[in-house]
Amino acid sequence: MAKSSGREMIVGIVLKHWIEFLINSNSTQSNNHNNQAIITIKQSQQSQQSQQMRIDIITLFPELLESPFQHSIMKRAKEKGILEVNLFNPREKYSIGQHKKMDDYQYGGGAGLVMLPEPLANCLDDFKAERDYDEIIFVTPDGERLNQSIANQLSLKENVIILCGHYKGIDERIREKYITREISIGDYVLSGGELAAAVIVDSIGRLLPGVLNDETSALLDSHQDNLLAPPVYTRPADFQGMKVPAVLLSGHQAKIEEWRFEQALLRTKERRPDMFEKF
Ligand code: ADE
Repeated sequence: MAKSSGREMIVGIVLKHWIEFLINSNSTQSNNHNNQAIITIKQSQQSQQSQQMRIDIITLFPELLESPFQHSIMKRAKEKGILEVNLFNPREKYSIGQHKKMDDYQYGGGAGLVMLPEPLANCLDDFKAERDYDEIIFVTPDGERLNQSIANQLSLKENVIILCGHYKGIDERIREKYITREISIGDYVLSGGELAAAVIVDSIGRLLPGVLNDETSALLDSHQDNLLAPPVYTRPADFQGMKVPAVLLSGHQAKIEEWRFEQALLRTKERRPDMFEKF
């Protein structure tokens, strides 16, 4: 990685929309010793441009998702008008009968209720009539496993629906007809898709240019370049006899970056040999 110069900051690994964002602005790109692209952002550009992304979450339990987007980074994304997250309960408008039915037993028998196709189809048809959606995501344990690359891809979209399943899942025909992408957040089963949706939205939101104060942070995250992040330290320099590595106090930026890169390599090799192989 390279040095800061003047008002410019040099940041790490490339995301497509960051390149676009920066090319449209006043930035330059070069390669570091590792042949990774380096972007130089002129600080004056940082807060000028931002994309607006809309994520509509369809869930029977919107209460579960009210808190995650009201704090910290997600709150800031909303306040800056960069990310709009809407929660919608299909039971309110699309459920069937006076009992507001949204699910039924599965054909062929077996434990667990399945979400009915009709209310979901009506709901999705209405949403689609309002605007063009780039993706209609269903969160499910049998989807592709979420990783940084998927978060990066999704952060390029403008309008996204996330459909949360509950009970035994949703009727397969909804998946066939409407869903463009199925995502799992890991090899375990949650009670519903809401927590998975929160994880996905968080992973996307922090990537949108303008959301993080320090524009370099999202690009230097663990996983962004298939490496885990190096250790970090703050004050005091000596905590109960444990000292901050001297290089971090040296003020020598090139050496510091070299050290961080080595630490990232070491950490990845030790903890995630599978990632290290790919690097
Ligand atoms: N719904 C239930 N479990 C899930 C998981 N692991 N990922 C995404 N959605 C889910």
